[in-house]
Amino acid sequence: MSPRPRKENIIAATPRPLYLDCDTGVDDAVALGYLLASPAVRLVGIGTVSGNLASAPAARNTLDLLALAGQPDVPVAIGAHDHLSHGFGGGAPHVHGANGIGDVELPRSTREPRDGHAVDLLLDLSHEFAGELEIVAIGPLTNLALALQADPTLTERIRSVTIMGGAGVAAGNITPVAEANIGNDPEAAADVFAADWDVTLVPLDVTMEHTLEEADRETLLAANAPFPRALGQILDHYFDFYEPTYGRRMCALHDPLAAALAVGDVTATRAPLVPITVDTSAGPGRGQTIADLRNQRLGDLHHDGHRTRFVREIDRPLGPHLVEVLTGMTSPS
Ligand code: BDR
Ligand code: CA
Repeated sequence: MSPRPRKENIIAATPRPLYLDCDTGVDDAVALGYLLASPAVRLVGIGTVSGNLASAPAARNTLDLLALAGQPDVPVAIGAHDHLSHGFGGGAPHVHGANGIGDVELPRSTREPRDGHAVDLLLDLSHEFAGELEIVAIGPLTNLALALQADPTLTERIRSVTIMGGAGVAAGNITPVAEANIGNDPEAAADVFAADWDVTLVPLDVTMEHTLEEADRETLLAANAPFPRALGQILDHYFDFYEPTYGRRMCALHDPLAAALAVGDVTATRAPLVPITVDTSAGPGRGQTIADLRNQRLGDLHHDGHRTRFVREIDRPLGPHLVEVLTGMTSPS
């Protein structure tokens, strides 16, 4: 009989380097916690962008959350304040609270954002981890579009891009047809979808179907570590916002679903490669993601030459998995 492997001989896979681009509101904070708690990936940099709130206070939230998680060394850079064709519109305090994190006051980290723009951080990391770096973008796509403008060869060094955004068959959430991340900067989104890289788009069609319940929030509030406990508080405001949508206190898991798909802990069971057009007109369709989902009834129909997969379904409910990962977080030593 062959000997059982000793524990020290089991070599864990090296965590994959990941850059997060975010507008740190409530569900971004949940996604951040999830990524920090996932051993398969290592956050090597975070850039912020205006969306739920302005990019500078989004960086402050990010630094405070990192400190709370006991992982203060992840570089954080402030990115675009304004969008490609227009100024920042003031964010979504009715959804995320005036400070972006449900009006919960976190202990303030002593760390400041690093000097330089988030675009520079992303470009630097793309060289440092050429061919390996994965991007998760859970805010408007302004920083990614600016990075592509500054250096179109960026696409050659990026392994994958996972984006929370858009709505295909589902209704929009900031207009009848536009989802917030795409609708806040449609020109940037159009540039990012036109670039030659592998994109996984995680739209409202699937994120609205994965939720946290009040019982999950209570589980987070009772967790051992300060990070999940803070998330339990931060989610309170977000639950208020979603109550009229779902008919009870609960919330959608937009950004956490993009994070979980990027990590690989959940798998897309329906995700056709399809052309995506972003409406950049000034009309009522502005910000709509027009995904060619015709003839998909019998299964995924992949369009030749297209590299954006549009996630329609995943293999299991995200909520219970998310709670398990977050409550497994440990207190900083
Ligand atoms: C997206 O918009 C933001 O409000 C959320 O953080 C999420 O990234 C959902 O439409
Ligand atoms: Ca977000």
